[in-house]
Amino acid sequence: MHARRALLYVPGDDWHKINKALTFGVDCICLDMEDGVAPSRKEAARENIARALRELDFGASEKLARINAVGSGLEEADLTAALPHRPDGIVLPKVEDAAQVEWVSQRIEEAERAHDWPVGSIRLLVDVETARGIVNLKEIAAHPRLDALIFGAEDLAASLGATRTPEAWEVFYARSAVVLHAKAFGLEAIDMVTVEFHDVERVRREAAFGAQLGYTGKQIIHPNQVKPVQEAFTPDEEAIAQARRIVEAFEAHQREGRGAFALDGRMIDLPLVKAAQNVLERARAAGKL
Ligand code: COA
Ligand code: MG
Repeated sequence: MHARRALLYVPGDDWHKINKALTFGVDCICLDMEDGVAPSRKEAARENIARALRELDFGASEKLARINAVGSGLEEADLTAALPHRPDGIVLPKVEDAAQVEWVSQRIEEAERAHDWPVGSIRLLVDVETARGIVNLKEIAAHPRLDALIFGAEDLAASLGATRTPEAWEVFYARSAVVLHAKAFGLEAIDMVTVEFHDVERVRREAAFGAQLGYTGKQIIHPNQVKPVQEAFTPDEEAIAQARRIVEAFEAHQREGRGAFALDGRMIDLPLVKAAQNVLERARAAGKL
């Protein structure tokens, strides 16, 4: 599994920022053609993104391209610009139903066949960020090409007529529904953007809370956010050591034919062992084991 602890957006029309993004050591770079790009700059973004995919060395960073929404009238040209240059994946914003996911998946498959690339090798991630998208999560998440669900809090608040607050209770139901559906269908779950990019403590706090909810990563928009977010989704040494102790103690008790047992004054049974295994899995995905 590719660890996508931080997914950095870069406006596709900004060649300087695209080059700069390659130096951050971020897990995942998403070259944007959608809301990070002004309507008059869409064509410039397509040209830059095609060139970047063709010419630049992304090192260990995954390279994604975000197209405009299905129905925007821009989606076909966006795909035509990006797909021939073989991004690792496409991000589809404002997804509202399974038919939109299927339409993009078909276009991707045509490109894969035309270039003799393995079918299914280009990943698809979707931003769920409208009321209708949340209501249709089950049919969206079931699509076989999907790799991850991404939660968009700002767009959702706009779609609801809600007011964004630092506590984010106005989007909590949806934020929780996205991670729930991702896990139900074996997908990664990538949490909302913290738009206050000068406030490093805030992004650290929001990332830690996202990780508590079960999110596997977070969208970011600025270099300030790379380190705190990648750290928040990487178990620290203490968490890894504790998870190891739980798993080892569990295995020893299993051999003796015992299920639940006590460790440091806490009852440990299967759900806690699974949680410990999740910690080890995340450590492994982050290259720490
Ligand atoms: N990707 C790559 N480089 C970035 C970056 C990003 N997302 N955001 C900032 N940088 C670079 C800047 O170019 C600048 O580089 P420089 O010193 O070589 O000029 C450096 O990091 C510091 O940036 P700073 O001056 O603090 O911010 P800014 O005013 O240039 O940009 C934003 C602020 C919000 C416009 C910018 O962070 C941005 O474009 N973010 C992504 C927006 C986006 O894609 N939104 C859609 C998805 S939600
Ligand atoms: Mg959005």
